[in-house]
Amino acid sequence: MSKLVRKAVFPAGGLGTRFLPATKVIPKEMLALVDKPIIQYGVEEAIASGIEHIIIVTGRGKGAMEDHFDHSFELDATLERRGKDELLAVSRGVATLARISYVRQKEPLGLGHAVLCAKEFVGDEPFAVILPDDVIDAEVPCLKQMMDVFNERGGSVLATQTVEGPAISAYGVLAGVQDPNDKRIYECTGMVEKPKFADAPSKQAIIGRYVLTPRIFELLEQTEPGAGGEIQLTDGIRALLKEEKVFGYTFEGKRFDAGDKFGMLQATVEFALKRPDLGPQFREYLKGLPL
Ligand code: UTP
Repeated sequence: MSKLVRKAVFPAGGLGTRFLPATKVIPKEMLALVDKPIIQYGVEEAIASGIEHIIIVTGRGKGAMEDHFDHSFELDATLERRGKDELLAVSRGVATLARISYVRQKEPLGLGHAVLCAKEFVGDEPFAVILPDDVIDAEVPCLKQMMDVFNERGGSVLATQTVEGPAISAYGVLAGVQDPNDKRIYECTGMVEKPKFADAPSKQAIIGRYVLTPRIFELLEQTEPGAGGEIQLTDGIRALLKEEKVFGYTFEGKRFDAGDKFGMLQATVEFALKRPDLGPQFREYLKGLPL
């Protein structure tokens, strides 16, 4: 078994109901954040972290993702004929970004089930899970930070962010013991899904990045459907931490929930302001608004 994390699974089989009606036909992973589909940010993060093989778990109506990461001969030929070299490089660049395989989740039976669909592609080695909705702006890619923790500690790693106040109730929350030598690392003892503020075991909200050992597949196979009839990834991880060490890691960077309307608006403003080609003009525009 390889001990290196070489593969990343992107569960993208969900229905994206929070973004209706935009997601009635267009997969939410293909919604544009400034000028790139949100899933491309995750794919670029994975590649920048050293991932060699990406497995996207898709579902009904998600074909646009496959077309996006493939060559578009008509488009490329037209751009070439018109001498649009820069745009041609952008279009070709997306098609050659990564080695990507697709596996279909026939019914959206939950995040745990989506991860399980990738089992044959991952095999018996540790792997990453990236939820494409969670777009992370970080100097060192979030997944790279987590892979470093995995290599150092040898146990599964869950990305967390500190959430103050009652907003924590929207998340899965980590229970754990903070490492006295590295305050970003927690040894996980449990997880509570969407707790009441008073019952939250910590301020550490679990977000959409995981590094997992392959044992999770067997445990997910034994996991009974939980809330809403779905197979939950957190139930699988809860079983995993009875057998192996699991760590929470407060990553350095900022995460946006681009699968949610408000989160997408925040990400759009912040990413646009950072863009050298758009930022200065956009900043001036925002300053002029009667807020
Ligand atoms: P979410 O609950 O955020 O996504 O799942 P959703 O169900 O698509 O969206 P809403 O809540 O209805 O707006 C987190 C991730 O898990 C994937 C989703 O695609 C998303 O990336 N997922 C969820 C699956 O791949 N399959 C599922 O059965 C459920």
